[in-house]
Amino acid sequence: MSETEHRVCKVADVPVGKIRRFEIDGRAIAIYNIAGAFYATDDTCTHGLASLSEGELDGDVVECSLHFGAFHVPTGMPAGAPCSVPLKVYRTEVRDGEISIFRTA
Ligand code: FES
Repeated sequence: MSETEHRVCKVADVPVGKIRRFEIDGRAIAIYNIAGAFYATDDTCTHGLASLSEGELDGDVVECSLHFGAFHVPTGMPAGAPCSVPLKVYRTEVRDGEISIFRTA
């Protein structure tokens, strides 16, 4: 399986404890800074049409702002009802002060 790298933003664009939303090829991606480590998931909640970047980060769990379901960010696994479908996660890499994500073809 081949991976495509997408440069998303600068490290400084996503402060510690924050979530930011970016569009990559028309797909909304959320970038998280959890204690200085960067993670990426789809931005759209699997329960509804909410943007997870508008949710709250509590440790490594993001709480959706619409119905307060939750996901474990590093794995995308549901961590609170009503979310039951895992969130797609992307491998990230930091190089030269920029964050990249990798999508599999
Ligand atoms: Fe996210 Fe319902 S849309 S919990």
